[in-house]
Amino acid sequence: MKKIVKTVTAVLTAALLLTGCGGGSAPKETANEDAAQDYALVKEHTIIVGTNAEFPPFEFMDDNGEFDGFDIAVMKEVGNRMGMNVEVSNMEFKSLIGAMEANQLDVIAAAMTVTEDRKKSVDFTDSYYTARQYIVVQKDNSEIQSFADLDGKKIAVQEGTTGDFTASGEGSVNVVKDADVKRFKKGADAIMDLKNGSVDAVVIDMNPAMEFVNANDDLKIVEDETETEEYAFAVRKGNTQLIEAINNCLAEMKEDGTFDSLIEQYINE
Ligand code: ARG
Repeated sequence: MKKIVKTVTAVLTAALLLTGCGGGSAPKETANEDAAQDYALVKEHTIIVGTNAEFPPFEFMDDNGEFDGFDIAVMKEVGNRMGMNVEVSNMEFKSLIGAMEANQLDVIAAAMTVTEDRKKSVDFTDSYYTARQYIVVQKDNSEIQSFADLDGKKIAVQEGTTGDFTASGEGSVNVVKDADVKRFKKGADAIMDLKNGSVDAVVIDMNPAMEFVNANDDLKIVEDETETEEYAFAVRKGNTQLIEAINNCLAEMKEDGTFDSLIEQYINE
């Protein structure tokens, strides 16, 4: 049995190396056990992409119940260029890294911010977007005008996100002190909690913040100085061939204008 698995993964390694965006050199004659292991997750010609489709405009479900959003579109295009199918798997944001460590995912595409802590568990591609945290409050709130004004307040966040870390006092620029942090599986539920007055504010990445505020007349954004964050795709630790292939595809897409047109379509619309 073990032998068969090895042969299969060796074949898949070759398949991946041979495909687009320069995933590496020609396949080796003999199966390299380490390399084979790198691709143990890649089902034949399929890259399994984990996301949390609760984060417009980066990932969401469209009206037909299909996955959509900037990250999904980019990964589909990367898949096309590599000659691989892309299969999307939806889960809670805080479960994504564990699922990757449990070999259930090849790529995480979830507007995931590169952090030192996450780098201990996964490897990141080149960054593809710069974001930062925004504060969302009720429109008539005049008390909260900065991160400093959040000290001791009730704040709703999406669990395990950088918004959660900021509200919980782990930010490195704006350290919110002694807030009562309510953690939700979905950003939309954090927003509901704000709308019904259970919390004073939501802390969430800037683009979803703008989407939620555009969809809710009773809310507004409070901007304040804060550190920027870099979004990148994550792969299993040590999966350098896949990182290289994705990075090359991203560079190619930037070069030929595909990347910018997706930015226009999903983010600057
Ligand atoms: N950028 C933030 C982070 O990495 C939030 C990402 C949330 N993404 C999502 N698909 N729900 O923590």
